[in-house]
Amino acid sequence: MQGNFFDFVGGSVGKWKVTGIETLTGDALEPVTHLSVISSDLIQLEHNGLWRIKAFTSNVRYAEKTDRVKLAAVQAELGRPNSTCAAFIPIRKTEAWWALAQDERRRIFGAQSHHTEIGLNYLPAIARKLYHCRDIGQPFDFVTWFEYAPADEPLFDKLLDSLRTTEEWKYVDREVDIRLTLIPN
Ligand code: HEM
Repeated sequence: MQGNFFDFVGGSVGKWKVTGIETLTGDALEPVTHLSVISSDLIQLEHNGLWRIKAFTSNVRYAEKTDRVKLAAVQAELGRPNSTCAAFIPIRKTEAWWALAQDERRRIFGAQSHHTEIGLNYLPAIARKLYHCRDIGQPFDFVTWFEYAPADEPLFDKLLDSLRTTEEWKYVDREVDIRLTLIPN
């Protein structure tokens, strides 16, 4: 399988300190104080955390060429020195979503919800990375990860308010929003 695997481990150790956990939809995750993001592979290793979500990077599904060009022009990389805040938001979509044809899902994501168009307004302040995990039997379908400067947290909250009122989000049946700050070395 192509792509890089990562384990998101919630527990009492890790580079990221948890500053807030909000369950928007569906079952909560057990509260933890720290999160580590570990480069891994498909094999499940032992771990000390309370929970672990395995996910991988993949090719794009919906973004069209024009979107990709716009994204490439403004998007920022993860790991910027002043981006000491992060949001880790695992998401699951309903069986009704997955039963749709690819073109129906693309229409909801694009023409009906304007996901990329909305998101583009928040770049480069917000850096983003999308991971997939439905295909490997995880309790979520996606792991989404965002990094930004502390002063941009209200901006990030505004972005979430916009996305969560879209048609696309009617298909979200589990979403947990975990906010983090980077522990200095
Ligand atoms: C920061 C601005 C954002 C931009 C520019 C953006 C852009 C995108 C793009 C282009 C895709 C499609 C990838 C593909 O074609 O496969 C995507 C997918 C996705 N994004 Fe965003 N996004 C942003 C923010 C967010 C936020 C805040 C969330 C969640 C809270 C989110 C959740 C997702 C999910 C779950 C998918 C996968 C959807 C699916 O395949 O069904 N995004 N995003």
